[in-house]
Amino acid sequence: MDGKEDRDSRVLPRNSKRWRLFAFIFALASAALVALIVPLAVILPRPKYPKSFKSTVIVPLYIYPENGSSWDPLFDVITSRPSLNFTVILNPDSGPGSSSYPGDDFVPLIQKLNAYSNVQTIGYVRTGYGTRNITNVLDDVTTYSDWATIANATGLAVHGVFFDETVSEFSVSAAEYLTTINQAVKNATGLLSNKTVIHNPGTIPDTGLNVPDTDTTVIFEGPYQSYQEQAATLASLPLNRSDYSYIVHSLPTSMSKVNLRKFAYRLSELSEFLFLTDLSENYYESFGPDWRDFIGVMPT
Ligand SMILES: *[C@@H]1O[C@H](CO)[C@@H](O)[C@H](O)[C@H]1NC(C)=O
Ligand SMILES: *[C@@H]1O[C@H](CO)[C@@H](O)[C@H](O)[C@H]1NC(C)=O
Ligand SMILES: *[C@@H]1O[C@H](CO)[C@@H](O)[C@H](O)[C@H]1NC(C)=O
Ligand SMILES: *[C@@H]1O[C@H](CO)[C@@H](O)[C@H](O)[C@H]1NC(C)=O
Ligand SMILES: *[C@@H]1O[C@H](CO)[C@@H](O)[C@H](O)[C@H]1NC(C)=O
Ligand SMILES: *[C@@H]1O[C@H](CO)[C@@H](O)[C@H](O)[C@H]1NC(C)=O
Ligand SMILES: *[C@@H]1O[C@H](CO)[C@@H](O)[C@H](O)[C@H]1NC(C)=O
Repeated sequence: MDGKEDRDSRVLPRNSKRWRLFAFIFALASAALVALIVPLAVILPRPKYPKSFKSTVIVPLYIYPENGSSWDPLFDVITSRPSLNFTVILNPDSGPGSSSYPGDDFVPLIQKLNAYSNVQTIGYVRTGYGTRNITNVLDDVTTYSDWATIANATGLAVHGVFFDETVSEFSVSAAEYLTTINQAVKNATGLLSNKTVIHNPGTIPDTGLNVPDTDTTVIFEGPYQSYQEQAATLASLPLNRSDYSYIVHSLPTSMSKVNLRKFAYRLSELSEFLFLTDLSENYYESFGPDWRDFIGVMPT
């Protein structure tokens, strides 16, 4: 016992040193573990998002550019997300208007939009579900095309046409009507590449109306609730996602950003061009409360 105690008391200082070393290593290891686990804990419980695909925002910009500032929410996001593309539908007066000049309020802002490489401007043309006199439709296309040559204003040329209220029920004459208006866009010398043709029947058109030169079709334009009801049908369509656009309004105002992102990602699988808003009326005449969140969740 004595000898042992002696040895222990002799050894103690050495053990104590070793113990301090072990304590130090243990503390270091713990710190390393914490450093590893804490970020993991932050990363791991992330919500499971559907797979996402590069998408383009389609903006029905039916807002009068009052005082030069009412398009600012659009300019803000165009600048803050330079890798996200915006297809902006210009609509001076339910179309280009009766004058060849879009108006002094519009001109500087259209020029400003056209200066961004991630913006493609498109002219709005109404077709009245195929009932509008096609001569007037073609005249509107020509008016947009002529914006490229307005003597006192450069940089107004647009990149295509958004045909609103396109017919969705097949007939030979309806298919001819759509074929002709598409050709007019592709023929127009004042429109810039891609001379994009967008049809908006707001619903799934009959297959016979998938005429040449349509770049994309808005196959859903309606409230979030209706989307839910038609989701299975919409998801079963045969064409590529670039052939389809979605405009969904009346999103629940209570929707979390996580769920908004999930929804945008889900739609990005189905279509390349998206517009989402929580506004439930006048959705194209102002920017909704969730405008920035919508832009923030768009996948690129
Ligand atoms: C534009 O200016 C007028 C007159 O100053 C003002 O009454 C109006 O609220 C302004 N509109 C916007 C959108 O700022
Ligand atoms: C955005 O548009 C540019 C120019 O047309 C194109 O090169 C690019 O691939 C587009 N990006 C996305 C994410 O669609
Ligand atoms: C369409 O308008 C043109 C030019 O105004 C006119 O000549 C033509 O008769 C109209 N067509 C129909 C079907 O109303
Ligand atoms: C350009 O010409 C149009 C008429 O074609 C006129 O209404 C407009 O005020 C002019 N704009 C400028 C900036 O001079
Ligand atoms: C477009 O151009 C083609 C080829 O030149 C021509 O056959 C067609 O009639 C034109 N269509 C329209 C609507 O301009
Ligand atoms: C133009 O078309 C090309 C090829 O389809 C596409 O990659 C590009 O993104 C389009 N540009 C814009 C601005 O949409
Ligand atoms: C989808 O796009 C690819 C590549 O552009 C093309 O080869 C294919 O035919 C398209 N599919 C349909 C159903 O349009």
